[in-house]
Amino acid sequence: MVEQIPNPSREEREGALARAHYNLFNLRSDEIRIDLLTDSGTGAMSDRQWAAMMVGDESYAGSRNFAHFEETVRSLTGFPHIVPAHQGRAAENLLFSSVCRPGSIVPNNMHFDTTRAHVLHQGATPVNLAVPEAYDTESDFPFKGNVDLTALEKLLSGAGPEKVPLMMVTLTNNTGGGQPVSLENFREVARLADAHHVPVYVDMCRWAENAYLVREREPGMGGRTIPEIGRAFFDLAEGATMSAKKDGLVNIGGFVATRNERLAERLKEALILYEGFPTYGGLARRDLEAMSVGLTEATQLDYLEHRVAQVRYLAALLEESGVPFFHPVGGHGVYLDVRRFLPHLGDIDLPGQALVVELYREGGVRTTEVGSLMFGTESAGALRSLELVRLAIPRRVYSASHLAFVADVVGRVYARRAGVRGLRIAYRPERLPHFTSRFAPK
Ligand code: F0G
Repeated sequence: MVEQIPNPSREEREGALARAHYNLFNLRSDEIRIDLLTDSGTGAMSDRQWAAMMVGDESYAGSRNFAHFEETVRSLTGFPHIVPAHQGRAAENLLFSSVCRPGSIVPNNMHFDTTRAHVLHQGATPVNLAVPEAYDTESDFPFKGNVDLTALEKLLSGAGPEKVPLMMVTLTNNTGGGQPVSLENFREVARLADAHHVPVYVDMCRWAENAYLVREREPGMGGRTIPEIGRAFFDLAEGATMSAKKDGLVNIGGFVATRNERLAERLKEALILYEGFPTYGGLARRDLEAMSVGLTEATQLDYLEHRVAQVRYLAALLEESGVPFFHPVGGHGVYLDVRRFLPHLGDIDLPGQALVVELYREGGVRTTEVGSLMFGTESAGALRSLELVRLAIPRRVYSASHLAFVADVVGRVYARRAGVRGLRIAYRPERLPHFTSRFAPK
């Protein structure tokens, strides 16, 4: 299938920005040329996935599509209990509402914004424990998604297991540049957590991309398949949450998976309250069938090679124009380093959002801020040092020439960067501010 790419004029883009209150979540898709807002649910499904949609068995209970889906996730992860949900944050809701209490602490390498919001929603405290290298945008450290083991040990021995109902590790670390976690680091995390009787859950949204980068970078991993590397991680964990809108190659879908039978019962009770029935989890059964195929396709080496090569191609073009971005580039996009891109703006000027607006104004390219707006000025210490704009690449959608156009637009804004002005907040909701805040130019 082919889609026409909209071609809004400069005047139309200016009008759209004002109408959207400078928040690009408020744009209409026909006002956008190239949409790099997110890689979540924005990919193209394959011929085999579309074919799978045609064998949907829409039984309320006991659909054969659920049986296939359950078998697929079990064989990829090894987790016996599979609880479907309509997307990642629904999975987070099921898990955290079942295990967290007010006062609980949930460590993670870095929480994604919905993960953090769901932990807070339970009255619990999310704590980011990524290695110090994760906050250095320029070094080529290969595993910036890793957990700081000393900080983890300190937290676990200080808090005690009754305070920490579980810990999460996010593969890849989306908030910190799409960076991988090494198997070696994850093994140590699991060992420490086990010593303190704390179960480890993986946020496996981009687990196949993580496995690809591990295969490429970690000694001894080069000869292993993506499913084998994935299993090496899952075997060390008690369970996982998944947004299949990423490495499930579907437009909607997700799940929680666990070895803990008692927890699985509680998850299913919550599922019936929020999502539907345990054999469909807020989805059409045909969506489960497309997810089964997508989860398998996402592990194919040819596909992953092309995906990561696209991200690197865009980064190489940006490098030619001297555009500063987060190094090394990760699995699902290029993250512009806003502090080096717009050094004349301070945090108070919302520099990331100002750059997002400018990229749209220049070329109709939509991106997203991952910085002081997404995480709020209250976010602790080191995270405040990251001010990024993410150019997320949807899966199997754009070609090299689309990416060359994007690089050209970013390069043009970089060339006139000294004239980029900041924004002020006109309205900010209490939670998840980047979705619905409104801004005005300074
Ligand atoms: N965890 C991570 C690491 C994510 O990146 C996301 C979503 C979620 C959980 C929540 O999943 O959207 O299906 O509810 N990330 C998208 C993004 C929104 O643009 O990175 P969801």
